[in-house]
Amino acid sequence: SAPILRDRNTLRRLREGWARADQCIGVVPTMGALHPGHLSLVEAAKAACDRVIVTIFVNPTQFNNPADLDRYPRTEAEDAALLAPYAVDAVYAPAPDQVYPEGFATTVSVQGLTDAMEGAFRPGHFDGVATVVAKLFLQTGAQQAFFGEKDYQQLLVVRRMARDLDIPITVTGCPTVREPSGLALSSRNRRLSAAGRDRAAALYSVMCETARALAAGQSFAPLAQTARQTLVDQGFAAPEYFELRSEAALAPLDRPTEPARLFVAAELEGVRLIDNIAVPAV
Ligand code: PAJ
Repeated sequence: SAPILRDRNTLRRLREGWARADQCIGVVPTMGALHPGHLSLVEAAKAACDRVIVTIFVNPTQFNNPADLDRYPRTEAEDAALLAPYAVDAVYAPAPDQVYPEGFATTVSVQGLTDAMEGAFRPGHFDGVATVVAKLFLQTGAQQAFFGEKDYQQLLVVRRMARDLDIPITVTGCPTVREPSGLALSSRNRRLSAAGRDRAAALYSVMCETARALAAGQSFAPLAQTARQTLVDQGFAAPEYFELRSEAALAPLDRPTEPARLFVAAELEGVRLIDNIAVPAV
């Protein structure tokens, strides 16, 4: 199985060799606790690139809630076993000081795209994401990066960041992998009870019903009221947001007059779940 690299200089030597051989490098950034959603990104990277680096780093600066950071699952041995069949070229699981050395003082902050939704409910979260992903792009020297549409706002933020900072990398979005019930796979799902996991599928079914009503010409505001109530009836806390926004720039919409997405964040059994689906323009 692939070597696990802990320091940035070892990674640099490896990727400089690949660059000399004109090999294209793909990177899949993760925080570990890998599941088939992550593995679908690895597959996309393997199909598109000569060399693939999977990074595993539970990035402290993107956790606005310290308890959430403490609770985050750390399963490196299982992660390595799950990756073995994919024959990736390196797993980069840096020690914290390889990412944030003593005296680290720089933050990458993307404006606009981060104002709403995850940015509004998790202050500082996207600064942490943009900063660590910029560093992972530069440390790995990858030409291609693979992100999940599961975190659609993150995908747009990362793409904007790379363009704005002239980091020469293509950011590809990959479809959300779901349980048969429709529940989007997430490292956080393992904190749900069996019954909670069943009820959590309501997140997806409510978005699908709303998308159907939008396609039939209904306006969003009353649909959102119904959807929020349905989630509460299913045992969710009042959703943090349930929104219809444009796919390109996340502008709020009342009708899908351009390609759009529905976005939701809600807590179930104390576990904060997010999801989104595409809504075609009508
Ligand atoms: P993490 O939550 O581990 O997710 C890593 C990548 O896997 C992200 O691009 C995410 O969108 C994708 N992913 C998660 N669940 C998925 C699913 N069900 N289907 C498809 N893709 C899925 O996102 C992060 O880590 C961090 O913010 C990171 C980008 C690594 C920066 O620290």
